[in-house]
Amino acid sequence: MSTQIVNIQPLSQPVNLGVEPATFSPQVEAEIDRHLAKYPVLRSAILPLMFIVQRERGYLDPPGVLYLANRLMLRVTDIWEVATFYSMIHTQPIGKYHIQICRTLSCKIRGAGKITEYCSQKLGIKPGETTADGRFTLSEVECLGSCGTAPMFQLNFDYHENLTPEKIDQILDQLS
Ligand code: FES
Repeated sequence: MSTQIVNIQPLSQPVNLGVEPATFSPQVEAEIDRHLAKYPVLRSAILPLMFIVQRERGYLDPPGVLYLANRLMLRVTDIWEVATFYSMIHTQPIGKYHIQICRTLSCKIRGAGKITEYCSQKLGIKPGETTADGRFTLSEVECLGSCGTAPMFQLNFDYHENLTPEKIDQILDQLS
């Protein structure tokens, strides 16, 4: 099977972000190169590269977006389209701990609304907000694929399932 790299010609950049592209250490650049080498079409590496840029910069900020557009030979708008589709890609700064509460059907009928209310009350923020100390961000997201153990939330990369107020106290108190 052919592994020839296919480069799509760079498209014009109708959007001027007014920033310089982000720069990364040689180690991070090497990691990015390794991902790019896996795909015959550059743009196919968009998600792994987004995760790296987000990890390095905390969120997908305008310099990070411009870097991705340049590396993937895409338009800034192409990067934004993907970034704003996935709830795991952040286009605004988020807290150290990101709580994403599933609000889809199974979780909803098993009390997701009450879970959101409880977390909101405990942290003093509404969904979409971050605590003043930058520690917690609360979000509501669609199905996280753990419907059999509803209600649930994702805390950074970990799932917490069959949630109750007591369980939430335990989880959050461990982080304090
Ligand atoms: S409905 Fe909540 S994980 Fe699927």
